Amino acid sequence: MRLSVLFLALLLAACGRGPDRAPTGGNSSVGRQDLYHFGCGSCHTIPGIVGAHGKVGPSLEGIAGHSYVAGELPNQPPNLEHWIQHPHSVHPESLMPELGLTDAQSRDIAAYLYALK
Ligand code: HEC
Repeated sequence: MRLSVLFLALLLAACGRGPDRAPTGGNSSVGRQDLYHFGCGSCHTIPGIVGAHGKVGPSLEGIAGHSYVAGELPNQPPNLEHWIQHPHSVHPESLMPELGLTDAQSRDIAAYLYALK
């Protein structure tokens, strides 16, 4: 009985994200460490990341609810991951640097960002 309640709660939580924000398959707690490690917070305000109060780029709070990533890519997990990994392939002049993230790191970071309220 308890298990089925738990399952239902998980199901509801998953549905709450909507079809467009399907889980990235990444690990959000690893993503949180990567966000810190790569210094994303020097340019972005990111809830839950120590010292992440940057004002160069937009705040990443609530990004799950945005329609577009960087004002251009439909906000889907593969697009968010692509932007995080290769912003210059989208906006060659962007102030956001190519930081050399792996596929796994961008998936983990996207998982953390989508979990933000
Ligand atoms: C040197 C400053 C800088 C750093 C470091 C940086 N960014 Fe950015 N970021 C920006 C700027 C500026 C923009 C707006 C870019 C544009 O549209 O060209 C941006 C845009 C974004 C967006 C899109 C936001 C939106 O509202 O659509 C995401 C997501 C993002 N950055 C994530 C990251 C992550 C994750 C890292 C670390 C791996 C990172 N950024 C590191 C400057 C930075």
